[in-house]
Amino acid sequence: MSRVVVVTGAGRGIGRAHALAFGATGARVVVNDLSAAVAGEVAELIGPRAVVSTDDVGTWAGARRLVQTAVETFGGLDVLVNNAGIVRDRMVVSCGEDEWDEVVRVHLKGHFATLRHAAAHWRAVHKAGGAVSGRVVNTSSGAGLFGSVGQANYSAAKAGIAAMTLVAAAELARYGVTVNAIAPAARTRMTEATFAEEMAAPEDGFDAMAPENVSPLVVWLGSEEAGDVTGRMFEVDGGRVCVVHGWRRGPEVDRGERWSPDELGDVVRELVADDHPTPVYGAG
Ligand SMILES: NC(=O)c1ccc[n+]([C@@H]2O[C@H](COP(=O)([O-])OP(=O)(O)OC[C@H]3O[C@@H](n4cnc5c(N)ncnc54)[C@H](O)[C@@H]3O)[C@@H](O)[C@H]2O)c1
Repeated sequence: MSRVVVVTGAGRGIGRAHALAFGATGARVVVNDLSAAVAGEVAELIGPRAVVSTDDVGTWAGARRLVQTAVETFGGLDVLVNNAGIVRDRMVVSCGEDEWDEVVRVHLKGHFATLRHAAAHWRAVHKAGGAVSGRVVNTSSGAGLFGSVGQANYSAAKAGIAAMTLVAAAELARYGVTVNAIAPAARTRMTEATFAEEMAAPEDGFDAMAPENVSPLVVWLGSEEAGDVTGRMFEVDGGRVCVVHGWRRGPEVDRGERWSPDELGDVVRELVADDHPTPVYGAG
């Protein structure tokens, strides 16, 4: 049987490319987007094996309906691709409460809510003795991994998605579910205004910033074959796939008793002296 795939935010950009790439493998696809018009176009391109969902993934009920749509329409769920997202870029000093809340809601809650309902489905199938090869691919960002000036809200949400991926991978392995994440880069509505020059399509040759370059890895991570890869973060763009290391313990000191603040200046400076973090995007 062909895979049953949910792609959130699949009406435009990278999500659209994912949905079409899964469709090309013969998968049955739930094309989710807030916009019925763009989701409908993608579903039409895939054909009768696609169905549209206009649920808002940043609501608990919407995420539950989305998972139900896959189960009721196609009899199950194999792959959840969490991709939907928005930006409301602001410097820390001028970010409003709504701009914070909406970005965290759509990205972080919008990833967790779908994951939560998909996980409940897979656990139920597993408990009933059914075979599960569940796959979740979350969408983080370089902003979430390294930080990005003007995007505290977005970076925090995307960092949360990275940490949530690790926890979900550890918890869901027992049910036959893998959970990985990508940090993509591509020319889309989200990026073309900000990175117009870097994102421009070449007149000829390989278009490294085409959203379609991101999807083959996501299709592979969604395959049955990919059951041995979980809890990983991949940067992916153009022809590049890079494993990204998470927080790792660096230089350390432990003297076995409490420090006083005035002792710590020299100690901390020595600890950070030769330990250089990846620069924040847009800093300096
Ligand atoms: N384009 C890049 O270079 C880049 C870089 C890093 C991360 N990302 C991430 O990739 C993902 C896709 O981004 P894109 O560049 O294709 O953006 P895009 O704006 O082209 O597409 C995002 C889609 O998500 C939909 N959407 C927004 N909120 C939704 C909601 N609550 N429920 C359902 N659908 C919703 C939008 O309608 C839109 O069609 C996002 O998570 C983004 O943060 C993109």
